[in-house]
Amino acid sequence: MASIKLTINGKSIETHSGQTVLEVAQTAGIYIPTLCYHHALPPEGACRMCLVEIERQRSLQPACTFPATDGLVIHTHSPEVEATRKFILEMLISDHPLDCMTCDAAGDCRLQDLAYEYGVKGGRYQDGFKHSYEVNDPNPFIQVDRNKCILCHLCVRACDHVNGVEAISVFYRGFNAHIGFGADGSLQDSPCEFCGSCVAVCPTAALSPKLASGKGRSWQVEKVDTVCSYCGVGCKLTLNVRDDHIIKVESTWDGPANHGWTCVKGRFGFDYVHHPDRLKKPQVRKYLLDGKKKPKSRNGKLWQWVETDWETAINITAEKLRTTRDKFGPDSIGVLTSAKCTNEENYLMNKLARQALGTNNIDHCARL
Ligand code: SF4
Ligand code: SF4
Ligand code: SF4
Ligand code: FES
Repeated sequence: MASIKLTINGKSIETHSGQTVLEVAQTAGIYIPTLCYHHALPPEGACRMCLVEIERQRSLQPACTFPATDGLVIHTHSPEVEATRKFILEMLISDHPLDCMTCDAAGDCRLQDLAYEYGVKGGRYQDGFKHSYEVNDPNPFIQVDRNKCILCHLCVRACDHVNGVEAISVFYRGFNAHIGFGADGSLQDSPCEFCGSCVAVCPTAALSPKLASGKGRSWQVEKVDTVCSYCGVGCKLTLNVRDDHIIKVESTWDGPANHGWTCVKGRFGFDYVHHPDRLKKPQVRKYLLDGKKKPKSRNGKLWQWVETDWETAINITAEKLRTTRDKFGPDSIGVLTSAKCTNEENYLMNKLARQALGTNNIDHCARL
């Protein structure tokens, strides 16, 4: 890559070729508004919010796709640029439901942020045609509201490049252009795997998680980073927690194992955490707790599970393992661990089996 020197807003910047104007500006700490740009996806130049003035170019150019080359002189906030951005926002808002009061994305919506920044209230062009799509995709996870879609194509690119499924396309042109699934059917009947990558990148509430609907806005939740407990991939997730309840799971783009991706379980399968049937305390058979012999009948009270504390449960387990090993030998015991545990937990189980119990009979469920 060759060294290049360009000027943005009068500031001289030395960098290297192979970047876009937007990337150079962002690295230099110069703000350019965007709607259809996402750092993890290839740029497409669909929204034109990032238009900038480049000297000796005949028209304004999208910073997200324009290659940064030696000698460019760029103005990111000239009066013409600002007026054009405001016009684009006015056009978008003219065909957008102005229901920020009840929208789940309020506070976490790039369109809302930019309308605020540019003072666009939605008063202009209100007499034109407006879309009125039904909001009724029957799938259990993703709310599809095309009335809020700004056709940024981020969902299309996320489905192609993050998950590789290609379930979303843009159908028709002009006023009839809309996102559709499969052969323009419902999301439920498309090849969608419900990974939720499209939801993660959608800048409005056109695609949003159904499970979070009405449960809380972005400023009302606490964000907690964690690792998915479903499988051994170990995807990094961010839980949105309100009143001690998880209302939404987001992916994190810096997750070393998943780089922003999750599967359907990690993103939408969190309701088990608060399920009333979930065991929260250890349980042992009553006869063990009472120090009695194993009953012959499995129907009596002594065979029932009873809750106890961790210390009691661990002591009973340790004692049973010890007596079994001493009576029948270490290889009478087998240890089965789980890919849902962390590496550290599996390492400790390995130590327990080989060093404490003295057996090599250890395996894990992911080999099944
Ligand atoms: S949920 Fe995943 S697979 Fe389904 S449309 Fe969205 S990105 Fe594609
Ligand atoms: S659904 Fe969302 S991500 Fe997809 S094109 Fe519309 S606004 Fe963009
Ligand atoms: S999100 Fe899916 S792939 Fe990732 S750890 Fe969880 S279950 Fe495994
Ligand atoms: S962010 Fe550049 S055209 Fe949309």
